[in-house]
Amino acid sequence: MKTRITELFGIEHPIIQGGMHFVGLADLAAAVSNAGGLGLITGLTQRTPEDLAKEIARCRTLTDKPFGVNLTFLPSVTPPDYPGYVKAIIDGGVKAVETAGNNPAKWMPMLKEAGVKVIHKCTSVRHALKAESIGCDAISVDGFECGGHPGEDDIPNFILLPRAADELKVPFVASGGMADARSLVAALALGAEGMNMGTRFMATVEAPIHENVKRAIVAASELDTRLVMRPLRNTERVLVNAGVERLLEKEKALGADLKFEDIIGEVAGVYPAIMQRGEMDAGAWSCGMVAGLIHDIPTCKDLIDRIMSEATAIIRGRLGGLLDS
Ligand SMILES: Cc1cc2nc3c(=O)[nH]c(=O)nc-3n(C[C@H](O)[C@H](O)[C@H](O)COP(=O)(O)O)c2cc1C
Repeated sequence: MKTRITELFGIEHPIIQGGMHFVGLADLAAAVSNAGGLGLITGLTQRTPEDLAKEIARCRTLTDKPFGVNLTFLPSVTPPDYPGYVKAIIDGGVKAVETAGNNPAKWMPMLKEAGVKVIHKCTSVRHALKAESIGCDAISVDGFECGGHPGEDDIPNFILLPRAADELKVPFVASGGMADARSLVAALALGAEGMNMGTRFMATVEAPIHENVKRAIVAASELDTRLVMRPLRNTERVLVNAGVERLLEKEKALGADLKFEDIIGEVAGVYPAIMQRGEMDAGAWSCGMVAGLIHDIPTCKDLIDRIMSEATAIIRGRLGGLLDS
């Protein structure tokens, strides 16, 4: 399938694997790219720019297809070494970057000069327009359904995507709630030029995470996510577990007085325990409502091949058939 997104990134299928903390290692990025999508290494999961440089080099040994790096700009008192991470990306010859979390304006000149294509992930049309105005090549439009940080506007993709289509000139992909061929065809119908998936790619053979996490996603329904940190205006959609219930109790009890320090035990630094050691109640980890549509753990290639062949069948068969009859 050819869209403005496949052309922009030089990929075969319009499917991107979104950055995921402690999930987006070279193994997953390479598997997605080898299957014809765009895999992304998650920059900040690498503790230092030197570690990121090594992970980029490792990814090159696993694939000769294009892959990218996610760079998430977090609100933080002591920010990570962003200049170092950007340099590692450029020196590593990476030509695609997914930015998220905050306006990437400061880094655009460096990235553009190095010929890097920038896709900015955001949850509102106003932020998407801002990203377009500072020179981003594409947008990943993340609806309220998404795993991770859906922002504070709470606009689901059935509204957000056509709104983005009405306003944007640069191409965009649909992100949040995307799982299968139906998602892809719907996203295309709503004006997107492809889709970005997070949670769906966690439940794959190559995702370098504990089996307990993959099984938890397969077992979960669309009713099993919760929004945490709403009172802090840092909302995150996570899979419910004992740690999350504890966190929500604190949010309820403390109300407007809640501070980040009150919940630090449930949210800070819990990813290694969950993703690597499979301690499922250790705390809050991002997961989308789309868990309700995930029933298996295929290889990335089987998943992407299935999506593309079923999408063709939907477009040519079911939809085409509606017109013929
Ligand atoms: C476990 C997990 C970790 C994530 N970590 C990040 C991250 O570090 N940076 C980022 O920009 N997005 C992150 N995301 C968001 C994804 O890149 C993607 O936008 C989101 O998962 C899309 O929604 P979906 O899960 O419904 O597919 C994460 C998502 C998940 C599920």
